[in-house]
Amino acid sequence: MKKDLVLKGGDVFTAADSFRADLRIRGGRIVELADRIAAPAGAQVIDAKGLEVYPGGIDAHTHFELPFMGTVSADDFESGTTAAACGGTTTIIDFVIPSKGASVLEALKSWHGKAAGKAVVDYGFHMALVEFNDQVAADVPKLIKEGITSFKCFLAYKGAFMVDDAQFLEVLHAAKAHGALVSIHAENGDVLAYLMKHLIAAGKTGPEYHPVAHPAAAEGEATHRGIALAKLAGAPLYIVHMSCDEALREVKAARCRGQLVFGETCPQYLLLDESLYRKNGFEAAKWVMSPPLRDKSNQPKLWEGLRDGFIQGVATDHCSFRFQGQKDMGKDSFLKIPNGIPAVGDRVSLLYTYGVRQGRLNRNQFAAALATNPAKIFGLYPRKGTIAVGSDADLVLIDPKKRGVVSQAASRHRVDYSAFEGFKLEGLPVLVLSRGEVVAKGGEYVGAKGRGKYLKRERFNPEEWSSRP
Ligand code: URP
Ligand code: ZN
Ligand code: ZN
Repeated sequence: MKKDLVLKGGDVFTAADSFRADLRIRGGRIVELADRIAAPAGAQVIDAKGLEVYPGGIDAHTHFELPFMGTVSADDFESGTTAAACGGTTTIIDFVIPSKGASVLEALKSWHGKAAGKAVVDYGFHMALVEFNDQVAADVPKLIKEGITSFKCFLAYKGAFMVDDAQFLEVLHAAKAHGALVSIHAENGDVLAYLMKHLIAAGKTGPEYHPVAHPAAAEGEATHRGIALAKLAGAPLYIVHMSCDEALREVKAARCRGQLVFGETCPQYLLLDESLYRKNGFEAAKWVMSPPLRDKSNQPKLWEGLRDGFIQGVATDHCSFRFQGQKDMGKDSFLKIPNGIPAVGDRVSLLYTYGVRQGRLNRNQFAAALATNPAKIFGLYPRKGTIAVGSDADLVLIDPKKRGVVSQAASRHRVDYSAFEGFKLEGLPVLVLSRGEVVAKGGEYVGAKGRGKYLKRERFNPEEWSSRP
């Protein structure tokens, strides 16, 4: 039997509590939590004095090795989860995205093939339903049995992943019947297609026109429509990667009416803004993502939404492409720039620095957005997302005194730039444990290869939630 591990004297923060404690770990789980624990003979002891101990981060939105826009996202499950682990994230949920006409079960098999033996942290999958027909309807209960308890619909990417309202309603009904949660990429794909057509026709082909083709109004409209259709179906809804106040206002209104709607935002929308599209010519392609970066005025609104409980989680939407050789596929037309940025390794320290250290979130709110809420929403709680006896010993220890700067050079992402280059960090993850194993130390990966396990997730449990913040 493996020996016990005792973490001594850390300041523990969960979504609910803050306390100083010792933790004893055995068999990958937390088995004791007390003021003082005498380490059993032979136990490994880690001195956590002066460190803040949080539940290991859960990034509920990644795209590793995703075939997308004529290329494949650069980070695979090995590099992506290694970057995650080094940055303090111990669970990721990636999106299986089948092509139209393809079997969802075959797509799932293919994603298992990409992840098994490569992922170094535990992982689950969401399933994107890019169409709805009798076959998909028959496969939904099979997906649930496999632990895929959340489905994503794209209201954008017309001609590729987009579903129409009727198909979206079918998905909502099927998900409700089987206890799954539906999430949406909320941008109006018809509006975007219309704007793209006219911009290109007018010769406006540079990356600075990407945000023009993706206005906040189109995100607000799709968020509103998604929420209205979820209400019609009597189903809960999760809005991924909210970038602007137009979307947030819809979520706020729905939650204040008592509708069960969840919101997710990302570090890029909290910290970067659309001025990046107007600097340095084609370099703007580095930040071409959907939705795009918005006017800076949205940032305080998103932070407040997070603080006030209207937004539950901060995920990364990590979908990385090299600038040279991938982003530059769109030199002649912004429509061909693969959408997405690298971020999975940066999330925890950015959220800690700009959330906790700059006074926008308290430490419990940080734990909630980082891990607890995604675990509860996506059927992983209390195994993941908290620090409690019986939970997996997934932990991130942050040294609040350590400082750093985000840089491509130090990053584990398999790309040639960092979206957050030069961002100052105050408080770094110095030790990361996954199921009781130290997997990262001082930002370096020290765990075994391919040790991550697939997580079969539980069905969505509305009882966990009151819709009001
Ligand atoms: O630009 C983005 N967000 N790329 C990844 C795919 C998506 O829409 O989530
Ligand atoms: Zn999306
Ligand atoms: Zn995404």
